[in-house]
Amino acid sequence: MPDPAELLGLAAETAAAVAAFLRDGREGLGRADGDVTTKSSPTDVVTAMDRAAEVMIVEKLLGVYPDDGVLGEEGADRSGTSGVRWVIDPIDGTVNYLYRLPSWSVSIGVEVDGEVVAGVVHDGPRDIAWTATAGGGAFRDGVRIACSTQTELARSLVATGFSYVAERRRVQGQVIAALLPQVRDIRRLGSAALDLCAVGAGHVDVYFEQSLNPWDLAAGGLIAREAGCRVEGLRGALPGRRLVVAAPPQLFGPLHDRLVELRADEP
Ligand code: IPD
Ligand code: CA
Ligand code: CA
Repeated sequence: MPDPAELLGLAAETAAAVAAFLRDGREGLGRADGDVTTKSSPTDVVTAMDRAAEVMIVEKLLGVYPDDGVLGEEGADRSGTSGVRWVIDPIDGTVNYLYRLPSWSVSIGVEVDGEVVAGVVHDGPRDIAWTATAGGGAFRDGVRIACSTQTELARSLVATGFSYVAERRRVQGQVIAALLPQVRDIRRLGSAALDLCAVGAGHVDVYFEQSLNPWDLAAGGLIAREAGCRVEGLRGALPGRRLVVAAPPQLFGPLHDRLVELRADEP
């Protein structure tokens, strides 16, 4: 099996370079109310920078490992023959990027035979590298991180996010409305990958979100898990489009049960 540390090295180097390109490139772009393309709904934007960043990442990775597969949000999809697949979100938090809000990232996860073995989430505005390898722990700029020791859901800071689809948002809004009076507060930071790093570092206590795609989850999910979190769906399901719940073990049960009551994973 390829060495996860070696795969992580290439992923981290690539993500850092692309984050720098995106930071510099943002200066040359217009305002958020200017010319952007929309994807799944009028609120789901994609900028030329998303596409350019994905091309850069794929060229760099396949330049080193030409037999690998890739899956990227902006269309990269190649099966490869080596058993390794790179799962890429070139900008996670595009709306923040567009509005010059400081929460967006470059996310690269590496799967071997379908299992994520390494991942990096590079925080673009803050130039911070969040990394993990399976079984090797999770790190912020090389310093080991660990999830929150909070024990009460009522005192927990909860991060979440919303789908781009209006009807789905209506349901997500109802879940949040029911949960908000029962927790410390809610945060909607705008980059799922960074939310997962934040829960890994205890910068929030728990995180959940519906409708995530594989590129939102691959790297950040491993980072949260390696930092001590449980990262699962409801009722023993794998984390995925129906729901991703990331929480320290002592908070997972109470949050899980509340989310079951609120039917937070209804399709
Ligand atoms: C989005 C962000 C956001 C989350 C959405 C994602 P994008 O990714 O991660 O925080 O709530 O579900 O789609 O579109 O900025 O890559
Ligand atoms: Ca994303
Ligand atoms: Ca994206």
